Amino acid sequence: MHFDFDTVPARLGTDSQKWQKYAGRDILPLWVADMDFKSSPAIIAALHDRVAHGIFGYARPVKSTVDAVVDALQRNYAWKIDPAWIVWLPGLVCGLNITAQAFAQAGEEVLTLTPVYPPFMSAPKNSARLSTQAAFVLRDGHWQIDWDALARAVTPRTKLFYLCNPHNPLARVWRREELIRLGEFCAQHHLVLCSDEIHCDLILDPTLHHLPAASLLPEISVRTVTLMAPSKTYNVPGLGTSFAIISDPALRAQFIRASAGVVAEVTALGFTACEAAYRDSEAWRQALLTYLRGNRDFLLDYLAREIPGIRVEAPIEATYLAWLNLEALHLADPVAHFETHGVGLSEGAYFGAPKGHYVRLNFGCPRATLAEALHRMKTAVAAR
Ligand SMILES: Cc1ncc(COP(=O)(O)O)c(C=O)c1O
Repeated sequence: MHFDFDTVPARLGTDSQKWQKYAGRDILPLWVADMDFKSSPAIIAALHDRVAHGIFGYARPVKSTVDAVVDALQRNYAWKIDPAWIVWLPGLVCGLNITAQAFAQAGEEVLTLTPVYPPFMSAPKNSARLSTQAAFVLRDGHWQIDWDALARAVTPRTKLFYLCNPHNPLARVWRREELIRLGEFCAQHHLVLCSDEIHCDLILDPTLHHLPAASLLPEISVRTVTLMAPSKTYNVPGLGTSFAIISDPALRAQFIRASAGVVAEVTALGFTACEAAYRDSEAWRQALLTYLRGNRDFLLDYLAREIPGIRVEAPIEATYLAWLNLEALHLADPVAHFETHGVGLSEGAYFGAPKGHYVRLNFGCPRATLAEALHRMKTAVAAR
């Protein structure tokens, strides 16, 4: 079956956050992480059927929805979970906030590795917890965990560790030995491990596999909250359907207690999309991965040939996000400069990088949009 990723959808003037940001200006938005592709035909058809039913009361997942999640984890990752381990959530940023409240007290610390998706640093602060950080290092052409820096960053007040697996914005897939070492680190320091795996179904390097941290060893599973969602892969983040997987009953009870009364329920349409995503959209996902690999290669090739001042320092192993080093351009405010020339990117400083050194580019869009954006970026660099 052929799936169309080339047609540029009309998102201007819609409810899209990504496109509204630049309403009335000719700026191609390559910032927030949703894709300019329609969801899979199976999801759209399932939503049509559900809408035709016409009643949208408070929802609970039916067995087939839970089965779709459980089966996908078994099929894709050989991870056998008990359906009772699933805690449904309306979003994963919400999950990051809940873990901070559940597993650290006010004034205690939540440790993470930077650069990283900004809510990893802001979620603890929302409830008077502290965010502490250790920086990744670039070694042998890969972003690596600096184990010494991590050991220095942990204190007796550290209670929780946030892992982004695969990593946003570094597009890194963590290897088995790294995950096991992180699990040991968390055990040694009595930390709960919160593993955000929202990008796990978007592995671009065909030689690599996503490994759910909790699936590796029982010792890791008992201290881990895994966060997952169909939202990134199937482009349904606006439907707000996500879940935590927590095998340890005490940890799960603590998480549920922290959510009580403040976390909204998942909607009927969200459950419908989730089931169709995990059960009926595998051919679409594979076609998407092929298209994204093409976009990644197009991007890397274009930058190397046409804009050598912008460097991608490590392989893009997963996600549709590229972390671009543009220090060599000496721009005081790269995001503003590229906006002036018609491209909207994310400022690296929000992810914990030095201001002006990095931007993040979202290549989850039709190739024609990417090509036009890169052409505008080349013009912007020439005009600086
Ligand atoms: C690592 C990571 N976690 C969570 C989210 C957002 O999750 P949600 O929209 O479900 O709150 C994103 C979105 O880009 C992300 O990259």
